[in-house]
Amino acid sequence: MDPNQPFPPHAFRRQDETSDAEFYHHPRFVTHIDDAAIAAVTQLYREFFLPNSALLDLMSSWVSHLPPEVPYRRVVGLGMNAAELRANPRLESYVVQDLNQQPALPFADGEFDGAALCVSIDYLTQPVAVLREVARVLRPGAPLVITFSNRCFPSKAIAAWHALDDRGHLALVQRFLEDAGSWQRITLLDRSPAPGRSDPLYAVVAQAGAKAILP
Ligand SMILES: C[S@@+](CC[C@H](N)C(=O)[O-])C[C@H]1O[C@@H](n2cnc3c(N)ncnc32)[C@H](O)[C@@H]1O
Repeated sequence: MDPNQPFPPHAFRRQDETSDAEFYHHPRFVTHIDDAAIAAVTQLYREFFLPNSALLDLMSSWVSHLPPEVPYRRVVGLGMNAAELRANPRLESYVVQDLNQQPALPFADGEFDGAALCVSIDYLTQPVAVLREVARVLRPGAPLVITFSNRCFPSKAIAAWHALDDRGHLALVQRFLEDAGSWQRITLLDRSPAPGRSDPLYAVVAQAGAKAILP
């Protein structure tokens, strides 16, 4: 799998093609990366998300990893499990939506000042369509912070993810954003806290591009 070549037809297939609603039916009140890697995610949010801004936490659960000392005007979660989202203390509101069934986001153009997508991009079967939608619901110039490590639910990750190593994952996410066409200043980061001693942590950060002005 070469992230610079056209995607082969099987790139977005998963070992488990049963419904995501079934897979995420029971809540999982666990964390998916270790504390040091979570701290690296939180630090990125500190750097990229402005206090008092409105944020969208995509593929959210019972924790958002936002810096506890920073107030935000509004944080909206979107994920698969209502019990997890209900238990998330940072969310003002939440939406349960399967992005693999329905990539269109139920939000207005420019409604958010930032978006987060933590350790979940590998589960999207239509990542380009979702990222195009994320750009639409962000105000121009707003940041998207995508983070991931080297762990996943293997049966639900797309084949393209399994075919690549960590560097390949960074290139793949960059490619998704480029194909979505509405992103600028795409930056690839290795924020692994302590190589060999904690989970690695990689990020792809981008800014929503200016919206096209129709004549
Ligand atoms: C590994 S967990 C990560 C949760 C959270 N972002 C975190 O950092 O702990 C994967 C998350 O992706 C969400 N998810 C998986 N498949 C999804 C889908 N098809 N549509 C929307 N969300 C999905 C699940 O609800 C789950 O919360």
